This record gives sequence, structure tokens and C-alpha cells, in this order.
Amino acid sequence: MSIFTRLSVTILTLSVALYASLTYASSTDSVPNAPTTYPAGKLGEMVKLGEAILNNTDTHPLTKHLVGNKLTCVNCHLPNQNGKPGAGKGMSTLIGTATVFPAWSKRQGTIQSLQDRIDNCFMRSMDGIRPIIDKKASMAMVAYVTWLSTGLPIKMNPKATISPYNFDKYVKGKKKFARLQKKATHSNYLNGKKVFQAKCASCHQMNGAGVAGTFPPLWGKNSKGEWLSYNTGAGMSKLNKAAVWVQSNMPLGQGGTLTNQEAADVVLYFDAQPRADFILKDHLFPKSKMGFYNTEVTTEHDSVRSNFKAFGLDIDTIRGDHVIK
Ligand code: HEC
Ligand code: HEC
Repeated sequence: MSIFTRLSVTILTLSVALYASLTYASSTDSVPNAPTTYPAGKLGEMVKLGEAILNNTDTHPLTKHLVGNKLTCVNCHLPNQNGKPGAGKGMSTLIGTATVFPAWSKRQGTIQSLQDRIDNCFMRSMDGIRPIIDKKASMAMVAYVTWLSTGLPIKMNPKATISPYNFDKYVKGKKKFARLQKKATHSNYLNGKKVFQAKCASCHQMNGAGVAGTFPPLWGKNSKGEWLSYNTGAGMSKLNKAAVWVQSNMPLGQGGTLTNQEAADVVLYFDAQPRADFILKDHLFPKSKMGFYNTEVTTEHDSVRSNFKAFGLDIDTIRGDHVIK
């Protein structure tokens, strides 16, 4: 073999390896398509029920009493072109999620099942009450989310309860945004407000309340005094996680168009607005009713103030007022 042949073989091998590492669950294009046929019989009915719940969480008869705000799962786990919730290919796709369980959850301090993970969203993103494990609503959602991973290999995750198609991107993105957000000042907040006005408010409205049934709310209360959106325990209330999600998914249909600074600042703006504190015990049924709750962590209290403090930021300085208690 001549030196040139050997060199080109090496280059070829290197590029194959590079290609493999790029395509293995780390680029948006590599997220597989959702299945198109349902399982037969009662199982298929359960999958369809789960799909309906993910689409209409706050109004569905099996879950509306468990939801404390005006959101549905599909508002953050975006649909694919066939309208399948969570099957969109941006950040927080639910494709591949079922393949990682049982998985380690740092937040709960235990090894979690997919059902645990889904049910915990009700306490935080949905500002509601954790469903009872194995009851119909919980089983239906886990059936649907499992169905989304049909045909994908098991890939247990020792680090986090998160799909392989989200994991690397979240880890890298969270670091990137934390670096920017830790340096934030009041002028980043003002820039975030400008970005919000220019690129978000046409749908979500300048007061963050959205348009009922069409554009979901981002913060604040309605005229009845009810909180509209996720609470301060939700992933979306953490500045760096939210920035990764927003840069990938928003403005709707134009994911990937915000610069790092725009995404960091627009999140700094909307996560600095009023939303419900997260006090863990307020989101559980009484002990006699709640069933098994798989956790080592039994107290948690997050606020807008503590979420900013986690990045070394003082909410009053960032906002330039004293609106947040
Ligand atoms: C306000 C936005 C929001 C809503 C509403 C929401 N989620 Fe999530 N969800 C997220 C974000 C952001 C993450 C990832 C970050 C994290 O781990 O906190 C996530 C993570 C998850 C995961 C972990 C798997 C993975 O691959 O990331 C599951 C499962 C999940 N959500 C299910 C649901 C279900 C079911 C509902 C409705 C009951 C729901 N979520 C409602 C924002 C939301
Ligand atoms: C063209 C309308 C439109 C624009 C512009 C838009 N969004 Fe959205 N946004 C939506 C819709 C619709 C959803 C819910 C998607 C679904 O249910 O399929 C959503 C969901 C969200 C969510 C998660 C759900 C919630 O209410 O918390 C966040 C956060 C969000 N958008 C932030 C932004 C930000 C920040 C911008 C500007 C950079 C933006 N959006 C621009 C329409 C829009």
C-alpha cells in the first residue's frame, strides 16, 4: 500500500467515525420518525387515549382535575407534521424517551420509571397534582410515549431521565447558555424584552397570557386570579434549559433562527415574570391517596428569585424594580 493509499484509507476511516459520531443521536435530522400504525386491540386504544391526553391535558376528563394551569403536554413537546404530540424533532422530542428507562434522576434521587417521569411533569410544568401510578390516565400516557419509540433499541441512561436524542444537545446547550446567563445585567433584560416584542408577542401577547386555545401562555394570571403557565419547579423555569428549548423550537416554525444572545436574553425576560412558586408538598395527593411516590427528595421550594439566584443573579437588579416578592 503506498503512503497515499494508506493516507486516504485513514482519512476515510476517520470521516466514517466522525460521521457515525455526528449521526448517533446528536443531530436533529437523526431523530427517527414516529410510527404510523397503532398496536391492535385494547393496547391500541390505550395508546390513542394517551395521545388525546397529551394533546388536551388541561381539558381531558381523565386529567383536567390534575392540571393547575392552561397548558397541555404538546405545547412544549411539539407535534410532527401528522399532529402526533411529542413526535416533533426539535428539543424535547419524546421520540427515544422510552428507551432510556429505568434511569437515574438526580432531581428525585432515585431510579425512575417512565411513568414516574411523566407523572412528575404534572407537579411542575402543569402546576398540578401528581397522578396516581398505574391509574388509567397514567397508563395511557406511558403507553403513548412508549409507542413513540417503537423499534428503537434500549439505551438505559445512568445520568438522566432524558431521550438520547435530547441528552447531548441539552448537556452542551445548558453549559453554553449558563456561561452567557451568569453574566447577565439589566441591559440583557431590556434586550430580552425587545426580542420578545419583535419575535414572540404577536402570538404569546405582550402580557404573556397568549390566546386561549391557540397560543399558550408564558406567565402571569388570568382575570379570575388563576396562574396560567408552568411553575418555578419546571424545566422551562430554569434559565439555561429554557434557552436550549427556545432556540430549538421558537419562534414557531422558525426554530434555530435566534442567536445565542437573543435566546439567552428572551428567556431572561420571560422567566423573570411572575409565576407560581413550586412547593413540592402542595402538588401531591394526601398520603392515604397518593399511592407509591418514588422519591428520596421530599421537600423543595423554588421561586423566580431562587431560580435567578442559581445563576448568581439578583432578580431585582435584573428587572430594575421590586415586582417579584
Ligand atoms: C412548559 C413546558 C412543558 C410542558 C407543558 C410539559 N413538559 Fe415535559 N419537559 C419539558 C422540558 C423543558 C423537558 C426537558 C428538561 C427537563 O428534564 O426538565 C421535559 C421533559 C419531559 C420528559 C423527559 C424525557 C425527555 O426525553 O426529555 C418527559 C417524559 C416529559 N417531559 C413528558 C411530559 C408530559 C407527558 C407532559 C404533559 C403531562 C409534559 N411533559 C408537559 C417541558 C414541558
Ligand atoms: C407564530 C406564533 C408563535 C410565535 C411567533 C412564537 N411562539 Fe412560542 N409557541 C407558539 C405555539 C403555537 C406554541 C405551542 C405549540 C403547540 O402546542 O403545538 C408555543 C409554545 C411556546 C412555549 C412553551 C409553552 C408555554 O406556553 O410555556 C414557549 C416557552 C414559547 N412558545 C416561547 C416563545 C418565544 C420565546 C418566542 C419568541 C422568540 C415564541 N415563543 C414565538 C406560537 C408562537
